[in-house]
Amino acid sequence: VDSKTGQLLALHEQAAKLYHHILVNTEMGQPALDYLHDRGLTDETIETYQLGFAPSQRLLKPFFDQRQSDYQLLRQSGLFIENAQGELRDRFTERVMFPLRNASGHVAAFSGRLLKKADDQPKYLNSPETTLFNKSKLLFNFDLARPAIRQAGEVTLFEGYMDVISATQAGVNNGIASMGTSLTTEQIYAIERTTDKLNVCYDGDEPGQRAIDRALRLLGEHSHLQLSVIQLPEGQDPDEYRKAHGDEAFRQMLVSAKEPPLRFQMRFLRRNRALETDSERLEYVNQVMPLLAQVNEPVELDMYLSQLASEFHIDKAALAAQLKQVQRDTA
Ligand code: CTP
Ligand code: MN
Ligand code: MN
Ligand code: MN
Ligand code: MN
Repeated sequence: VDSKTGQLLALHEQAAKLYHHILVNTEMGQPALDYLHDRGLTDETIETYQLGFAPSQRLLKPFFDQRQSDYQLLRQSGLFIENAQGELRDRFTERVMFPLRNASGHVAAFSGRLLKKADDQPKYLNSPETTLFNKSKLLFNFDLARPAIRQAGEVTLFEGYMDVISATQAGVNNGIASMGTSLTTEQIYAIERTTDKLNVCYDGDEPGQRAIDRALRLLGEHSHLQLSVIQLPEGQDPDEYRKAHGDEAFRQMLVSAKEPPLRFQMRFLRRNRALETDSERLEYVNQVMPLLAQVNEPVELDMYLSQLASEFHIDKAALAAQLKQVQRDTA
């Protein structure tokens, strides 16, 4: 760690402490603290994640000015916005603050969530990319989750920070999240160095389903991880599920809603399709075949073929023959 990096990390550590202090000890932070309590987080969880609050007034700038902090260092931290005159102002205001720690457990950036919906502002605002923060590399909670991932022998990948934190609140400590955008190969390699099993548990809405499909393809292409999908009920995300059903039901859901990737992919291909005509059905079967061609377990494969055969009234032997054809063509 060179001294510049060390100084930037120290700056982030101080900022995290200050935001956290505002949240838990001040009148200004009370609405945000109420908000987090309403969302079902205990003080212990708020402590674990060092959640904080950036108030409406300028906070970091006067704080660091008092300490004669180096202007260039402040500029490079990403915690400030610079105007045309080169003046710095706090980037985050009126947001619940989530410190983003790197794999070594040091705060490298922040994500701030709006307390109240505002149409002209993004729900989550992240630090810009800096020398400390590369959002395609960082995995939220990876530092804290690593021992639990090793112990469980598997990791669960969520879509949002709140899903990871909610899982922790329910006693599930092996959860991580990518940074909102889709999963990257760098993140996949980091995961693969820690475990060989991964569950994808994204939101039960259309963007979430599309993100699962993308993630499965990327994971299949770039890793040897054993994959499962944890399918949430329509429209719900994991955090909403816990809020609605409680910790115990949440933990059970993570086990009982687990399915092989192919089951997800077959359902995903069928969504928004009536499959009423022969040509529609044929098209569907043709899209499923390349997926089936990748299944190595004979019994599992037989299950899918039986299911397809009975659902579409197609002779199973004919399906098997076509599968062989596809396997030969792709070999
Ligand atoms: N995200 C983002 N910017 C946004 C919206 C989302 O960066 N404007 C990222 C965040 O990392 C967020 C993830 O995408 O955690 C998932 O988005 P979403 O499902 O909308 O958010 P939730 O995690 O469900 O957040 P909350 O429950 O607080 O609404
Ligand atoms: Mn504290
Ligand atoms: Mn979502
Ligand atoms: Mn969500
Ligand atoms: Mn949510």
